[in-house]
Amino acid sequence: MKDAIKFGTKCVHAGEKPDPVFGAHTTPIFQTSTFVFENAGQGAARFSGEEAGYVYTRIPPNTPTHSVLAEKVAVLEGGDAGQTFASGMAAITAVVLSRLKQGDHLISTDVVYGCTYSLFREVLPRLGIEVSFIDTSDLAAVKAAFKENTGMVFLETPANPTMTVCDIGEIACMAREHGALSVVDNTFSTPYFQRPLQLGADVSLSSCTKYIGGHADLLGGIVVGSLDFMRSLYPVVGYTGGIMGPHEAWLCIRGLKTLHLRMERHAGNALKVAEFLEAHPKIAWVRYPGLPSHPQHAVAKKQMSGYSGMLSFGILGGVEAGRRLMDSVRLCSLAVSLGATDTLIQHPASMTHACVPLDVRKRVGITDDLVRLSVGVEDAEDIIADLEQALEKV
Ligand SMILES: Cc1ncc(COP(=O)(O)O)c(C=O)c1O
Repeated sequence: MKDAIKFGTKCVHAGEKPDPVFGAHTTPIFQTSTFVFENAGQGAARFSGEEAGYVYTRIPPNTPTHSVLAEKVAVLEGGDAGQTFASGMAAITAVVLSRLKQGDHLISTDVVYGCTYSLFREVLPRLGIEVSFIDTSDLAAVKAAFKENTGMVFLETPANPTMTVCDIGEIACMAREHGALSVVDNTFSTPYFQRPLQLGADVSLSSCTKYIGGHADLLGGIVVGSLDFMRSLYPVVGYTGGIMGPHEAWLCIRGLKTLHLRMERHAGNALKVAEFLEAHPKIAWVRYPGLPSHPQHAVAKKQMSGYSGMLSFGILGGVEAGRRLMDSVRLCSLAVSLGATDTLIQHPASMTHACVPLDVRKRVGITDDLVRLSVGVEDAEDIIADLEQALEKV
C-alpha cells in the first residue's frame, strides 16, 4: 500500500481484498488444515517453492486469513513481509532460532518480559548461545558489550515493566557495524507509535495478544522484516510449528481495524492517569515515557510519536501498600497481560517477573513496590476515580 496513504487508512484497508470466490467483504476465516492441489505436478511445485501458494496450515504462508494479517502488519511496520505466530513467545523463539547457533552471542536489554528473560537465561545457554543482559539505555554499555561472535541484539523498548527506553537507531547502527541482527520487541508501542524498521532495526516483533488483538481474547505473535530475513525465518516456522490459529488471525485483523483509534485513547488516558498519580501524596514515583520526569523522555520523544497506554509506579509503603491498592480497585482488573480495552493492574515482582532472580530485579529496577498499569480505553475520569478510592484504602 502506497506510503502517501495515512496510518489509520492502512489499519482498515492494508492487506484486505474481497474474497475472490463469493465476494465476501470481510476476510473469511480459512478454518482448514490442508489445501487441495489441482494435480500432482502442482503439489510438487508448491512444495519445492517453484509455485507460490498454500500447502498445509503449519507451513507459511499458512492460510489466506494469515496472509491478510501478515501483510497488514508488514504495511503498518513498514517492512517487506510478516509472519504470524501462536504467541509473542513463539515469535521470539523462532526469530532467535532462525539466526543464532551454538557459539553465538546475544545482547539483550536487561529489563525484558519475564518469559523472554527466562528463555534467554535458561534455554539459550543450554544450546551453547551466550547471553549478555545489558542496560540498553546506556549506549556506552551497549558498545562495550559487543564481541566477535555477537549475532543479535534484542531490544525491548519501552521495557516491561520499568518503562525504560533505549535508542533504537543508535543501537541498530552499532549492530550493523558488528554484522549483528537488531531485533525490537515493539509490543508496548505498536507500529502506531513506534516503527523500529524505519529507525534502522532489522526486525520488529510484537505479541498480538496485547494491543494488536486489543481485546484480551486471543494469543498471538507477529514478526516483520526484510524479505531476506523472512526467508530465513519461514523454514523455522514450519519446523517448530508455533503458528497462529486461523480464528485468532481473523480476530487480529478485526482488532487492527481500530488500532489507531484505540491507541490514541490508551495514550490520552495513560497521560491523565500518570499525571494524577505523579501528584498524589501516596505515590513515590511514576514512570511513563510521556512525562518529562521519565529518565529517557528525550529519547522517547525522538523515536515515538506517542507514549502508549503502559505505565508503572511505586507506592509509599512498598509491597504491602501495593497489595492493598490492587485488592481495593473495582473498575480496574487485577490481571496480567496488557493492551486490552479494559484497564489491568498487576504486581510484576510477584507475578510476570517473579521468574527473574531477586538480585537481578533489584539491580534493574523491578522493585517490590512497582505496580504496573495497562490503561484501557474507558473514560479517564472513571479510571482515576477508581485509583483514588483504592488509594484512600492504603
Ligand atoms: C513485551 C512483551 N513481549 C512479549 C510477550 C509475550 O507475549 P505472549 O504472551 O503473546 O507470548 C509479552 C507478554 O506479556 C510482553 O509483555
